Amino acid sequence: MANLPVSMEELVAQVAQNKKYSFFSKEFIREITQSVARKRQPIKEARRKLHEISSMYSGVRTEKEAREVWQFLSQNLSLKELSVLDAGAGEFPRFYPIASEVFRIKSYDALDVSSQWHASFPSQVNFEQDDVLSPQGKWTFKHYNLCLALNVVPVLEKIRPGAGSSFLRLLEQRASFTLLSLPMRSLGGRKFIGGHWLNWVEQNIDASHVAAKQEGNELLVLLKNQTRK
Ligand SMILES: C[S@@+](CC[C@H](N)C(=O)[O-])C[C@H]1O[C@@H](n2cnc3c(N)ncnc32)[C@H](O)[C@@H]1O
Repeated sequence: MANLPVSMEELVAQVAQNKKYSFFSKEFIREITQSVARKRQPIKEARRKLHEISSMYSGVRTEKEAREVWQFLSQNLSLKELSVLDAGAGEFPRFYPIASEVFRIKSYDALDVSSQWHASFPSQVNFEQDDVLSPQGKWTFKHYNLCLALNVVPVLEKIRPGAGSSFLRLLEQRASFTLLSLPMRSLGGRKFIGGHWLNWVEQNIDASHVAAKQEGNELLVLLKNQTRK
């Protein structure tokens, strides 16, 4: 019997059936499914991609590592109070108490395409589920002192080449400073890839560097955005 054509809605429904992906919005699952719809096994491919998005470089930071991120900021930012946008936040907002030891936090907005970690955030964190590649959230109308883009660019570049630099250009409009973090080592942990990402920053970012530091397994780059103060 010939295979009947399967509609996009059916494909999306089948991908979403797996509970592992229930933290993603239906729209995001549709977008990912559409991007692999022409492959031979679109359901398998879409699930593989979603798995990659939720797990790639998302090793849990220790408290010490999170403290190093906030200390790097306190050493290089002259501001004492901050409004923060944590974009592609993952679990990082759990470390809000450390941030509030170092800065007076006026507001802390976290956004992620997945709602997986939301329940573990302190009450001061405002969470919004949104896709930065097709942004619609309230955060797109706000302006922040600082935007965190920690380990998100490699994931976005994997979803769609060029998406990482579009993301950073979007953040440039939204914040005075952006803290970018990029992985220093390949996923297997052996190969040094920090040089690749520093080159990527030079080639893709207009904003000027304020500071850069290798901290553990990540490269931290603080950028001063030009567009608005
Ligand atoms: C490698 S994790 C980094 C998490 C956190 N920033 C950190 O450094 O611990 C990448 C995060 O980006 C999120 N993400 C991936 N694609 C996204 C998109 N299109 N829009 C918003 N968030 C996205 C993932 O859900 C994941 O939480």
